[in-house]
Amino acid sequence: MGLIGLGNMGTAIAERLLDAGFPLVVNNRTPEKAEVLEARGAVVATTPEDLVGQVDVVLTSLPDDEAFEAVAERVVSAARPGTVLVDMSTVSPAVSARVASLAEAASVDYLRAPVSGNPTVVRAGTLSFIVSGPRKTFERVEPVVRAIGPTVHHVGDGEQARIVKLAINSMIAALAQAMSEALVLAEAAGVSRAALLEVMGSSAAGAPFVKYKTEPLLRDDFSATFTTALMEKDIDLVLDAADEAGVVLPLARQMKALLRATIEAGYADDDFMALYLHLRSASATEEAVR
Ligand SMILES: NC(=O)c1ccc[n+]([C@@H]2O[C@H](COP(=O)([O-])OP(=O)(O)OC[C@H]3O[C@@H](n4cnc5c(N)ncnc54)[C@H](OP(=O)(O)O)[C@@H]3O)[C@@H](O)[C@H]2O)c1
Repeated sequence: MGLIGLGNMGTAIAERLLDAGFPLVVNNRTPEKAEVLEARGAVVATTPEDLVGQVDVVLTSLPDDEAFEAVAERVVSAARPGTVLVDMSTVSPAVSARVASLAEAASVDYLRAPVSGNPTVVRAGTLSFIVSGPRKTFERVEPVVRAIGPTVHHVGDGEQARIVKLAINSMIAALAQAMSEALVLAEAAGVSRAALLEVMGSSAAGAPFVKYKTEPLLRDDFSATFTTALMEKDIDLVLDAADEAGVVLPLARQMKALLRATIEAGYADDDFMALYLHLRSASATEEAVR
């Protein structure tokens, strides 16, 4: 099988597949990231077309609509009929539907398979998939999908997985903001970060997300598992999907403004928990976040 896109998620997924003994061909826009995996047993393809020529199943993990559509067009054009394209990126239902039409015209089977988790979750073997597309297509790739992450929710035959993924990510963004506000309040009022996080983790609000973020917060580590820029991209997709569906999402609108302010403060490439850093300094200077 092949994997295109070796960013934070793609690299963790490639390592997991290689460790599980799957033969794997990899391709990345920046070749160095692929070459690192060569040492672990991957075959490096120089282009998406080169990769497609060597495999029956193509996995993609790309940042956004533009990158996914461009790569998917190349994959579908080069693929033999019967090839399966499994996309794990978070992208819009609209772009995904365009790729579905191209795939159908080329007799390429297409599965939407966005994921819930982060690179640490991938490495721990607990990634969840939200899948939509024909069940027969899913059955063809199920062993690979389950080797990456054991939990799979099949939510429909069309673009449903795209919507479910966006709905969950709007909750994750809001959780990050709620956690940030709790930290800013506690620290400003003289409670230690460690004490608050300990209680938070065992409280009714102690979601898995709180637990993932506790250790990095204790280390003051804001290196990205998922960047603030990508979270803004996801909230943009959420707002577009809300417009399309004719509904208003007040919290998502507020998250857009908060993420934009955090990016403008210089945190685009940091983890989106940098919402906390921005809120802390904005509070200190009384620049209340609008
Ligand atoms: N990180 C997470 O926690 C997480 C969790 C769930 C879902 N996701 C989703 O998974 C996807 C990947 O996320 P990530 O965090 O791994 O992103 P990332 O670290 O930014 O990696 C993106 C990858 O895509 C490649 N790429 C970017 N633009 C490209 C283009 N125009 N053409 C071809 N390749 C391109 C990059 O190549 P270069 O190396 O050349 O830059 C890189 O390998 C996103 O859709 C994200 O929303 C992420």
